[in-house]
Amino acid sequence: MAGEKPSVELCKGVNGLDKVVLRDARGSSAEVYLFGGHVTSWRTDHREELLFVSNKAIFKPPKAIRGGIPICFPQFSSHGNLEQHGFARNKFWSIDTDPPPFPSDSSSKTFVDLILKPTDDDFKIWPHSYEFRLRVALGLGGDLMLTSRIRNTNADGKPFSFTFAYHTYFSVSDISELRVEGLETLDYLDNLKERERFTEQGDAITFESGVDKIYLSTPTKIAIIDHEKKRTFVLRKDGLPDAVVWNPWDRKAKAMPDFGDDEYKHMLCVEAAAIEKPITLKPGEEWKGRLELSAVPSSYCSGQLDPQKVLQG
Ligand code: BG6
Repeated sequence: MAGEKPSVELCKGVNGLDKVVLRDARGSSAEVYLFGGHVTSWRTDHREELLFVSNKAIFKPPKAIRGGIPICFPQFSSHGNLEQHGFARNKFWSIDTDPPPFPSDSSSKTFVDLILKPTDDDFKIWPHSYEFRLRVALGLGGDLMLTSRIRNTNADGKPFSFTFAYHTYFSVSDISELRVEGLETLDYLDNLKERERFTEQGDAITFESGVDKIYLSTPTKIAIIDHEKKRTFVLRKDGLPDAVVWNPWDRKAKAMPDFGDDEYKHMLCVEAAAIEKPITLKPGEEWKGRLELSAVPSSYCSGQLDPQKVLQG
């Protein structure tokens, strides 16, 4: 574990699919499948898995992998010609050997750069030319950092618009033991009620039934507090104003062929996203959306978790 050499290795994953394994010097790791540009694993230096992937996940293109961090682009949850969550999670990405320089904040040396560009066939479903660059990096202390850079490369002078989400599935001890902090009092669109708009009441979000909400104009930090594990996930995001919170609960879980009947108890999706106001890019313009995840031990204060401690700093 500690004292290992950081490494970035291309190898074979489930069903012979290519994956890149990142390992830092302290033993934290992450795995990214080229299929989907899809992160399927993020482990602590004690090899504890932090992301949920269903035991019934089908690693068979073009079906997206159930769990981890699917990338939703160029749309999040809408209908029409495209898959409900877009096509980026169903495509084979390539390793980007010569990405344009990143700003100086990318101090990590343990990372991989992927790229997705449209094929001629893709134009039939979304008639735009783009370059989507994704960097997946392990930061200090085993943080997982994803940076997406999407550029409009249309030669016909046309702008395009898109919505986006990092559809992150967190692994949790028990959904009924969780609190999400940072979204209280915010407005949300309820996907279970035809996207009607409501305002969240109460001090924190807890779970007693299925939830599928798009919180709007959210803060840059959100915390998922897992009482039983005494662990808090902290999401920090940039360029991604919205946040989706999703758990299918029992009835929907049973209807999903690639998801176990009881697995809803051990996962929660909190998805950094740009949905309410689609991003529009003119040719030559680039958008950037960044997500940073950390897992920290929860702190207790008179028997209560203190969300302020988590959200400060
Ligand atoms: C969530 C959506 O993000 O993803 C839900 O809000 C959707 O409405 C869920 O059911 C799963 O989608 P999919 O396409 O991965 O089965």
